[in-house]
Amino acid sequence: MQEQIKNAKTLEELQSLYTATFGKNGTMTARLKDMKNLAPDARAELNRENTELRELFKLRQSDLENAALMSGLAKQRLDASLNPLPENRGTLHPLTQVLSNVSEILESFGYEMWTGPEIEDDWHNFTALNTPEYHPARDMQDTFFLENGNVMRTQTSAIQIRSMDAHGAPIKMFGIGATYRKEMDATHTPMFHQIEGLYIDKNITMSDLISDVREFLKRFFEMDDVKLRIRPSYFPFTEPSIEIDMMWRDNKWLEIMGAGMVHPNVLRNCNINPDEYQGFAFGFGWDRLAMLKYGLNDLRQFYDGDVRWLQKTGF
Ligand code: PHE
Repeated sequence: MQEQIKNAKTLEELQSLYTATFGKNGTMTARLKDMKNLAPDARAELNRENTELRELFKLRQSDLENAALMSGLAKQRLDASLNPLPENRGTLHPLTQVLSNVSEILESFGYEMWTGPEIEDDWHNFTALNTPEYHPARDMQDTFFLENGNVMRTQTSAIQIRSMDAHGAPIKMFGIGATYRKEMDATHTPMFHQIEGLYIDKNITMSDLISDVREFLKRFFEMDDVKLRIRPSYFPFTEPSIEIDMMWRDNKWLEIMGAGMVHPNVLRNCNINPDEYQGFAFGFGWDRLAMLKYGLNDLRQFYDGDVRWLQKTGF
């Protein structure tokens, strides 16, 4: 019996041995019942055997319980030697990097950064920008209209109006933000971003505009000099209006931005006297600038959220 107890492999096996020994019909139970018929020596021997067996059961039980505990713990053990997962730190989104680049340059020229709401009212997005209802120039922008007559901002020029309203003249600011138009292909997405500058003061001229733009482009693209081409254009809120092209590395002209001298009507709409103050505005695609800087050809990648793309070197 002692051997059997010591060799019991499981608590269940030990339990059934115990029942067979000390249970109601157990062998030891029967012998103990019979004890009164034994000689004193044999009684003492039986008592000793009884105590020994109970001790043995207890010992084996605690051994088996310990073993079960240890094997449970071994399964749960934290293996600190496992290779750590590769570190996936990511980078700032290229648009974020371009913005910090652009704002650093424009702020060093004295422009102050402004933002505004993406849901705009007609006044700020169109009318105050000298684009009244039925003005044909509204067709230039495939506007998303909301049911209450508001629009998804089609141009950051709306921020010009808000900044002039709030601040008055003189003012030197740049507005940044998301803009929305109904278009979709490799170089157009329904949501894109613009950045534009505005400088209103006394005696501001077109040559101030061109010199700020030139200096900005030189610093942004890290070029010693940039060759610009100025073409006449049309925007309702500037007069005269121009488009500025830049000679790119492969000797091709690239259209970079729209600009012009702020239309007197726009100043009047913001309670600024156009006989006292004048200035310029310029606006460009924030995403487009990022595409040029990083040599990308598909605008949609900016909004796919693909980490592999974001991790590409150079961003
Ligand atoms: N708002 C114009 C556009 O979206 C760009 C622009 C800004 C032009 C400021 C002139 C001055 O096309």
